[in-house]
Amino acid sequence: MRFRNSAEGYGIIAQAFHWIVAALVFVQIGMGLYAADLPVSLARLQWLSRHKSLGLGILALVLLRFAWRSLNPPPALPDSMPRWERRAAVATHRLFYVLLILAPLAGWFHASAAGLSVNWFGLMQVPDLVSKDRELAELFKLTHRVLVGLLALLLVGHIGAALHHAFLRRDGVMHRMLPWRPRRNV
Ligand code: HEM
Repeated sequence: MRFRNSAEGYGIIAQAFHWIVAALVFVQIGMGLYAADLPVSLARLQWLSRHKSLGLGILALVLLRFAWRSLNPPPALPDSMPRWERRAAVATHRLFYVLLILAPLAGWFHASAAGLSVNWFGLMQVPDLVSKDRELAELFKLTHRVLVGLLALLLVGHIGAALHHAFLRRDGVMHRMLPWRPRRNV
């Protein structure tokens, strides 16, 4: 088990960041859709409160992940991949970071402007980013939705590409992000 990335694959820390953030983002999207659909009620406020807390947790994890990645460059993509595909993969990964930082930030701006301050899992009060303003709240609500929609689209493309590498190309690209070794080096 290696902690740092190497030319052959990702280290255990980068893998842990990848799979934990991925799982939390799925939970977060489901929770956001569920909470936003509830009628105005105590249950809605409670689900939104969990959503906001988890969203800030994801933001913190993504910033840590970005710092770790800056210190640990990822392994290069294989030469067997056409150049345009390697460029598309790099662009996708960068866009993931941009969206995983901007989407929660927009949610935080929305919550602040809507007067729904965040109390992080009931443990501490998080400062508001702007003061209460109904028009701004609507603007950030829309921005949050658009950014999350783009994130969901990117996720679909990313998962499709990963499965393509794993089952059709069998070029080992997917295995670099898995903590276990493939039975056969495909
Ligand atoms: C990666 C992080 C996040 C993801 C993937 C995410 C996803 C979502 C989704 C899918 C919705 C439902 C959109 C709709 O149909 O209206 C939503 C709503 C919402 N999110 Fe997030 N969110 C994230 C982070 C945050 C953060 C950090 C906050 C605040 C601190 C936040 C605050 C809200 C609020 C207040 C709503 C309800 C909007 C409404 O009133 O309809 N979100 N989010």
